[in-house]
Amino acid sequence: MVELDYYHQWYQTAPHWHRSFGVLLIIITMFRLIIKVSQSKVEPLINHKVWEKFLAKLIHLALYFGLLVLFVSGYLISTADGESIKVFNWFELPAILEFDDSDDLAGLIHKWVAYLLIGLVVFHVLGALKHHFIDKDETLLRMIGRSKK
Ligand code: HEM
Repeated sequence: MVELDYYHQWYQTAPHWHRSFGVLLIIITMFRLIIKVSQSKVEPLINHKVWEKFLAKLIHLALYFGLLVLFVSGYLISTADGESIKVFNWFELPAILEFDDSDDLAGLIHKWVAYLLIGLVVFHVLGALKHHFIDKDETLLRMIGRSKK
């Protein structure tokens, strides 16, 4: 997306879809957080070791924090020039502050946090698979709502 040249047919379209899906993800994440705080806390399984509980907590926090940084930086890259974001051409998210982003700090943060988040997601998936296939416990089934316990 960021390497397309001006005459490429996706030059305008790819960032438009990226921003629109990004904003949709912001909305979904807000609903997720509302559900999370309104539900009772899910306790770890009895067989989970102390280091596993600690690592799981750290990764969950990093996933949410990474998303927050991506949302804020993505919003700032898109609105630094005072332009609002057109979300699927359904509605517009207005620019709150206009600022000089010529050194592209928001873009750099966005890029590296996105890569970090992709790494964390892979790690999260590997952890879930370890619980399912090596420890043979209910963790993965609980994650996808299939646990009978
Ligand atoms: C989980 C959510 C998101 C992920 C994983 C993500 C990921 C990325 C990645 C990998 C890039 C390319 C970075 C580069 O190589 O320079 C990028 C660029 C970009 N993203 Fe996101 N993004 C997300 C959310 C958002 C949101 C919510 C917005 C805006 C509302 C946004 C706006 C942009 C823009 C405008 C660029 C182009 C930056 C540039 O021109 O340098 N992104 N994003």
